[in-house]
Amino acid sequence: MLARLDRYIVGLDVGTTKVCAVIGKATDDGELEIVGVGHAPSRGQKRGVVVEIGSTVASIKSAIEEAELSAGVSVDRAWISATGDHIRGFNSRGSVTIEGRAREITEQDIRRVIDAASHPDLPKDREIVHLLPQQFVVDGQDRILDPLGMSGTRLEVELHLVVASVSAVQNLVNCANSGGIEVQAVVLESLASSEATLTDDERELGVALVDIGGGTTDLVCFHGGTVCHTAVFPVGGQNFTNDVGVGLRTPLAEAEQIKTRYGAVLAELVPADQSIEVAGIGGRGSQLVPRRRLCDILKPRAVEILDIVREEILRSGIGDVLHAGIVLTGGGALLEGLAETAEQRFGLPVRVGVPSGVTGVTDLVAGPVYSTAVGLALYGYRNREPRSRFELQDPAWYRRVRGRFAEWIRDLF
Ligand SMILES: Nc1ncnc2c1ncn2[C@@H]1O[C@H](COP(=O)(O)OP(=O)(O)OP(=O)(O)O)[C@@H](O)[C@H]1O
Ligand SMILES: [Mg+2]
Repeated sequence: MLARLDRYIVGLDVGTTKVCAVIGKATDDGELEIVGVGHAPSRGQKRGVVVEIGSTVASIKSAIEEAELSAGVSVDRAWISATGDHIRGFNSRGSVTIEGRAREITEQDIRRVIDAASHPDLPKDREIVHLLPQQFVVDGQDRILDPLGMSGTRLEVELHLVVASVSAVQNLVNCANSGGIEVQAVVLESLASSEATLTDDERELGVALVDIGGGTTDLVCFHGGTVCHTAVFPVGGQNFTNDVGVGLRTPLAEAEQIKTRYGAVLAELVPADQSIEVAGIGGRGSQLVPRRRLCDILKPRAVEILDIVREEILRSGIGDVLHAGIVLTGGGALLEGLAETAEQRFGLPVRVGVPSGVTGVTDLVAGPVYSTAVGLALYGYRNREPRSRFELQDPAWYRRVRGRFAEWIRDLF
């Protein structure tokens, strides 16, 4: 029997290394209860984008089936995440003059100004995935939530736009559809992860969420409760694994195991006399290697990835407003010593973010690899009125005017 769809919300994270489906149930007391979880290894993705339809569809089907079995319900639609270095985020601003005698701002004026801010000269092969409102400004007065009915002669809006390759998004949607899943919305991976890991206080004070996955590292920065910067870098956990494979001359599957089991970024965390057994390539015998050798291999890559993120933050001019520091999530955040190294590189407090804000079988989604899938379900729960595929994000201070804003956005596409 098909589940009552308005009660069940599905997050489908199609990652580079795994596909994860999380089924949440909206409870009568206003919580999202996780009732089912399923995963499957992902083989058809490279650096966050679909490169092989068949195996991506198979992974999606298998993750969904497992989640359905554990939840005891069938589902046919989901909120799905997108990442990849085809994605660009930028801030945009629009302004319009308020005509008429009364000079009172009408809905039409608000539509016009959003339209003005959200129609940059996009190439035909790009589409807007998110229009994230930051603030309205009326005659120079900023941080206005809802300018409707206010008097003024000039209305401005500031938005953060997330733009993606039409074909990359469409391939993802097609894979979900072929797996029997209708896509309710495509959500930027980092934004989904932020739903499950960040607090409203952090978003208000200023925070950078860094989701280090297998193929990509995704950055989203908040300040004043709204998104001020997003970026995707095509590096992640697989780079560490490759480095270990090359450095220790061992097959990648073995390198992955060694990395997750014994890997650490800081040599101080590892006893000097510890050794690990490493299998050789092509049937060559195994060898004993000091565990600290692994730190020497992992550290430069950790520093490289962290510095890419740090430079992006500095370049975008938001380094000074990240008063709540950095939150690391994604499987890469499990690397021992990474948070400490990040603290040194950024000179800011760093914590590892794991999913929170849900009830139910939370032990099944406890680690940072589940941040995106749980975040998608939470995002879906918090935005569950039917909308266009192009969603706006829903920062706390914006919730009040959400419904009306969603209408305007829908009309734009
Ligand atoms: N204990 C660990 N130590 C180091 N790395 C780990 C550990 N556990 C998992 N990882 C790494 O985390 C990565 C997978 O993380 P995650 O599941 O967040 O990626 P993904 O969502 O599939 O990929 P992406 O988001 O890039 O598309 C893998 O590269 C894996 O090796
Ligand atoms: Mg991921």
